[in-house]
Amino acid sequence: MSICSLSEKLEAAVAAIRQYTDIVPETAMILGSGLGSLADQVENPVEVPYKDIPGFSVSTVHGHVGSLVLGTLEGRYVAILKGRVHYYEGHKMENIIFPVRVLHALGAKTLVVTNAAGGINEKLNVGDLMLITDHINFMGANPLVGPNDEKIGPRFPPMSRAYTPELQEVARKVAKEVGFNLAEGVYVAMSGPSYETPAEIRMLKGFGADVVGMSTVPEVIAAAHCGLKVIGISCVTNVLHKGPSKDTHEDVLKAAADAKPRFINLVRGIVRELGK
Ligand code: HPA
Repeated sequence: MSICSLSEKLEAAVAAIRQYTDIVPETAMILGSGLGSLADQVENPVEVPYKDIPGFSVSTVHGHVGSLVLGTLEGRYVAILKGRVHYYEGHKMENIIFPVRVLHALGAKTLVVTNAAGGINEKLNVGDLMLITDHINFMGANPLVGPNDEKIGPRFPPMSRAYTPELQEVARKVAKEVGFNLAEGVYVAMSGPSYETPAEIRMLKGFGADVVGMSTVPEVIAAAHCGLKVIGISCVTNVLHKGPSKDTHEDVLKAAADAKPRFINLVRGIVRELGK
């Protein structure tokens, strides 16, 4: 039996990807439910199925595909994780954050992370895009529990600037240029997979959360730990201020698909701006 260290696992994953391409991405992205088609706009794409990358887990959820796409967007090198795995699928936290560490090991400096979320704040409507300015980890687990590898990041990483303030400015500027209203607020992560009860929605509102979802927070904690800059964007696929969601997963995917053109304009603009 061989017990691989995290560094060895990362090296193996990077080596597998390097069999496909030498691209060093500047910006990496994680695309959530229904938003994966931005990866189809990548020029000269090299697609690496997750199953070919050691250490990558494959999602079991409908609407979440699994491959890493490398190429150029707006003339800049990018790496896109098309689909992610979730805690509610039973994956271990260390496996959920492994792809983020691989993106960092590939050379990425910035991570754009997107998700579908339920709107708690009454000002939010279905289809709105929200810049995540902060999060609340209410999943009941932290992905950094366990031994810490100081080569990756510190034992007690601060989270005060997890959503890089300078990059929030970039997102605001691009939204203004593209010409739509970008909401802003706090994302709270629940483990799921059940949607929230009325009492839970009241509680989350009391916490100061604006949207709720079942992803993103583990990846952002891992990104902040290893020094990646982060921009987070939620697509409001259903609202909870009129009571708990009666929406199905299909409704969520449809709402995400409707918001896609704005979302794609925003993310392309951010990549363009980051390259200036
Ligand atoms: N709750 C939790 N996660 C979600 C929701 C929701 O209402 N909508 C999309 N992801």
